[in-house]
Amino acid sequence: MGKILVAGGAGYIGSHMLDCLSMRGMDAVVADNLSTGHAAAVKHGELIVGDIRDANFLNGIFSKHKIDGVIDFAAFSLVGESCSDPLKYYANNVTGTIELLRAMHRHNVGSIVFSSTAAVYGEPEKQPIEETDRTLPTNPYGETKLAIERMLGWCAEAYGIKYASLRYFNAAGADPAFGIGEDHSPETHLIPIVLKAALGKRSHVGIYGTDYHTKDGTCIRDYIHVLDLANAHLLALEFLEKGGESGVFNLGNGSGFSVLEIIEAARRVTGMDIPARPEARRAGDPSVLVASNEKAASVLGWKIEHTSIEDIIASAWEWQSAHPEGYGK
Ligand code: UFG
Repeated sequence: MGKILVAGGAGYIGSHMLDCLSMRGMDAVVADNLSTGHAAAVKHGELIVGDIRDANFLNGIFSKHKIDGVIDFAAFSLVGESCSDPLKYYANNVTGTIELLRAMHRHNVGSIVFSSTAAVYGEPEKQPIEETDRTLPTNPYGETKLAIERMLGWCAEAYGIKYASLRYFNAAGADPAFGIGEDHSPETHLIPIVLKAALGKRSHVGIYGTDYHTKDGTCIRDYIHVLDLANAHLLALEFLEKGGESGVFNLGNGSGFSVLEIIEAARRVTGMDIPARPEARRAGDPSVLVASNEKAASVLGWKIEHTSIEDIIASAWEWQSAHPEGYGK
């Protein structure tokens, strides 16, 4: 495969995708408007700053570069913000992918790997969650991702553009050796927040709810190393290129950890006393989200390398402790 267009490649997961492409000796072109991404996170490939909702911007890229496949990470992804400003999410997330698909159709590019999310399931009916389970998002962020998944289905029929929609569970970890990690502003995710508390950059971790019907009363999530996620995108692209069928795939470790277990694991990894105290539930949080990853394993041949939660947290800690202010500071 030749050049891959990575939309949103300056973001957390996108930058680890570039890491993965570079390890495989594959060329990348990155399109990112840097609204939430960081130029300093682009360690491989050419960064072209601009907005994928701008058809001229995309046409310029597709005319200049021979693109063989597209990976689309470009989106807003804060669940809470999507509830307070749903139109911001529809306007950005859905329109961005519409324009990407238009440009792909115009320039005869045949495959796209799309960043989807466990949020498409909403409150799941059973665990572990399979791809065929009910999709009923409980927030606008998940709705935009599900709308795009369905749009991809129609575009596959109409234009012959193949797709793989990858439903991520909780992306975590970093690749400090490549100089990249997680830097969101504001930070809302559990593991970076726990590590900021370990560094003394936050007074404590608020535990959002201790009365869920789980083993210790706190929410359970499936944490998957961001490099394992990235690797699945490559496998999906190769699968489509070889004639594989379009489809949706869960990407998770297949095992769940509670909020308290994550804090305990982070205490062991960092050797720090991480202050934590119970707080109110966060609106819209399902109690348990654990993936069945059998489809990605059997169809794409996905093998997870980072199976230990402590190793995942250790990689995030190595990056965060070396970059306490994130990128560029
Ligand atoms: N949590 C806390 N305290 C914090 C932050 C988080 O207790 O300070 C808890 C949350 O309530 C949740 C768990 O830690 O139970 C994980 O929260 P994250 O914010 O790290 O991740 P989410 O599971 O909420 O979100 C992830 C993705 C979203 C996706 C969502 C699907 O980051 O993009 O799963 O539900 F939409």
